[in-house]
Amino acid sequence: MFSGFHRLKDMGIMGINSRNLDFIAPHNRRQYYRLVDDKVITKKTAIEAGIPVPELFATIEYQEQLKRLGDILAQRSCNQFVIKPAKGSGGGGIMVIKGRTAAGYLRANGQVITLPEIQYHISNILGGLYALGGARDVAIIEQCIENIDLFDKLAFQGVPDIRLVIYKNTPVMAMLRLPTLASGGRANLHSGGIGVGLSMDQGMTTNAILHNQYITHHGDTDAPLLGHIMPDWDQVLDIGVKAAHMAKLGYVGVDIVLDKHHGPMLLEINARPGISIQIANRQGLKARISSMGL
Ligand SMILES: Nc1ncnc2c1ncn2[C@@H]1O[C@H](COP(=O)(O)OP(=O)(O)O)[C@@H](O)[C@H]1O
Ligand SMILES: [Mg+2]
Repeated sequence: MFSGFHRLKDMGIMGINSRNLDFIAPHNRRQYYRLVDDKVITKKTAIEAGIPVPELFATIEYQEQLKRLGDILAQRSCNQFVIKPAKGSGGGGIMVIKGRTAAGYLRANGQVITLPEIQYHISNILGGLYALGGARDVAIIEQCIENIDLFDKLAFQGVPDIRLVIYKNTPVMAMLRLPTLASGGRANLHSGGIGVGLSMDQGMTTNAILHNQYITHHGDTDAPLLGHIMPDWDQVLDIGVKAAHMAKLGYVGVDIVLDKHHGPMLLEINARPGISIQIANRQGLKARISSMGL
């Protein structure tokens, strides 16, 4: 369906070069990248703008703070949290902790991990292992999102997210991303997540892809993937538009999660959103954008 260069052009598909030259360069000013490339700054600015975000439990900035990590984690009555690099991308370095046992902490995939192993992981984050350009980084410890019932059925051991592409403050395309056994609790397609196209009017699942192949059922849960409607869809779109406006960027990917108790929340904003969302929606972004008169 997507083979042949001229054919792609005819279908209004956006390639990486066109994304960079026609959308990112003219609409995203470099001076504003700082806010979206650092998830600590994104979170603080979102709170000021009244956009809901997962609660920040702690940030770890120096290796010395790791000695107190056991205390920092114990201060939290809840045993669920997520550790992530402030400057990470594509799901890199994200560790989802779902509980605690006598042997240690329980990861989303059921694996037990000890405190020294978590300290080692954070030490790697601080060293820049997952950061853009390998620069020194900060580790974020934040509230773990609790899945709504629909997502518990659809996803495998992790939290799905909704990716919205917002162009000129208007939502133009949407995709639900589902964690799989292979993706380790993260929804990113590059980690092995499933991408599911969403209709813009009501957030209904339309087509699903895994590694660019169309599928109809989740391979790990057997759950049928098509025909589901996202709850709180208007709120999801509203958060996307507010996030793009807050970031002062004209072409962005906004990641939103749905918490069982707190509703839709902003996870992050991407200044260089990937282009696979077109395959999950069987439509090119250029075609979509021009059909909307933008
Ligand atoms: N607070 C959280 N609770 C549960 N899962 C999370 C949380 N933060 C991130 N994740 C998982 O990791 C994925 C990637 O998170 P994100 O913050 O967008 O980082 P990245 O920049 O690496 O894409 C999410 O889609 C979700 O599956
Ligand atoms: Mg993301």
